[in-house]
Amino acid sequence: MIKFAKDFLFGVSLSGPQTEGDKNKKNQSVMDYWFKIQPEDFYDRIGPNYTCDFYNNYKEHLKWLDVIGLEVYRTSIQWTRLIDDIYKCKINDDAKNFYLNYFKEIKKRKIKLVVNLHHFDIPKILLDNGGWENKETIYLFFQFAKICFELFEDIVDEWATFNEPLADVDSKYLYGWHYPKIKNFKRSIQVFYNMMVAHAKVVNYYKDNFKNKHNKITIILNVTPSYPRSNDIDDIKASDFNNMLITYSQLDLVLKGELSKELIVFLKENNLLPEYTKLELNEFKKHKIDYLSLNYYQPFRVMKKESKTIKNQIMPWSFYDHYEWPDRRVNPYRGWEIYPEGIYDIANLIKEKYNNFPWMISENGMGVQDEDRFRKDNIINDDYRIDFINEHLDWLKKAIDEGANCFGYSLWTFIDCWSWTNAYKNRYGLIEYDLDTQKTNIKKSGLYLKELIDSKNK
Ligand code: BGC
Repeated sequence: MIKFAKDFLFGVSLSGPQTEGDKNKKNQSVMDYWFKIQPEDFYDRIGPNYTCDFYNNYKEHLKWLDVIGLEVYRTSIQWTRLIDDIYKCKINDDAKNFYLNYFKEIKKRKIKLVVNLHHFDIPKILLDNGGWENKETIYLFFQFAKICFELFEDIVDEWATFNEPLADVDSKYLYGWHYPKIKNFKRSIQVFYNMMVAHAKVVNYYKDNFKNKHNKITIILNVTPSYPRSNDIDDIKASDFNNMLITYSQLDLVLKGELSKELIVFLKENNLLPEYTKLELNEFKKHKIDYLSLNYYQPFRVMKKESKTIKNQIMPWSFYDHYEWPDRRVNPYRGWEIYPEGIYDIANLIKEKYNNFPWMISENGMGVQDEDRFRKDNIINDDYRIDFINEHLDWLKKAIDEGANCFGYSLWTFIDCWSWTNAYKNRYGLIEYDLDTQKTNIKKSGLYLKELIDSKNK
């Protein structure tokens, strides 16, 4: 078993929309609305209303934290639950009490509580007015964040502004996977830019107003490092381009307060620059987050463009083609390549290009279908998940031994939860959740994590 230093933290990440259910929720998120109008888009027609029901059952579920001995717990506050009137920023008292009680239940265990403010869950009413394309959304999100700080600052240990803004944008505005199913590169850049302005404004407000507190603030970014098919110069160029677009763009904005000259030239030349103001650009320069939260699931493999480009429509893949590495291992249920070494490359990237800024893995995990078939002696023997975790931790430990500034690893996720259009198809939890009986039980991977945590403290 890999041994980590005593102060290395092991945790779990969850989100409000994927765990709470819709009881007493007054507003619809875009996901809620989408499920209502097109339930056939969701696996087995299971929607966000039907989750592991943390709204009612959080106390029961959280008991498993003690069994595993987890040290970090991340979830999110749903804008659509906490706020009754999104435009007037009116607080819902029931939601306020729910979050307070829920958070207390975590804190009494002396676990570090990280609370995120946006996990793919913009209110539907805002989408009617342009959603994140409308700058007013920046202002309203900022108001929402201020309310969260005022209400929960004393109980929350660390805040996150957004979870995977790029994944959210890509799904909704680039690939058209999620409602409103738009496929437009320029619009996706505007949405991403506006979200990042909102992030910067919230960080600046927090840093200016909560100076004396020890609490920290972070952002959760999805990183999918890009790899070229070969050493051919054009393959390498295609991969460098992709890294510039999806990896450095995010990290540069957040850690350096600006985009690279190269990316700006590319955006200008292709008429992709978002609408921006000087005032907004200044927001990126003021304060920095305290540490970076990175989600790593899979790499991104590309090769030089060989297929035909669609005329009159520039997309990221106008500049490269996807490449399937013949030696790849794939999680067949999700279709994602399993490449543990990617975590090592990310660690080196942060070390070399970003001054070894402190960071943690805030999500990594494996979704598997029909886990019941692995039940033995009444417990799901998810050895594949244990191997997955182990291999990633091996590479992470190697990076740390070589000087990477990574201080923790959180798994997606604690308990089987609702996973967007895949709903309950693939299970990710250390704890299983039976949708029919609402019963929970630890999986072998949960016991394994306990061992990992115990071994490090010896
Ligand atoms: C997201 C989670 C999601 C998980 C598995 C992550 O990118 O943050 O919300 O459930 O992937 O698909």
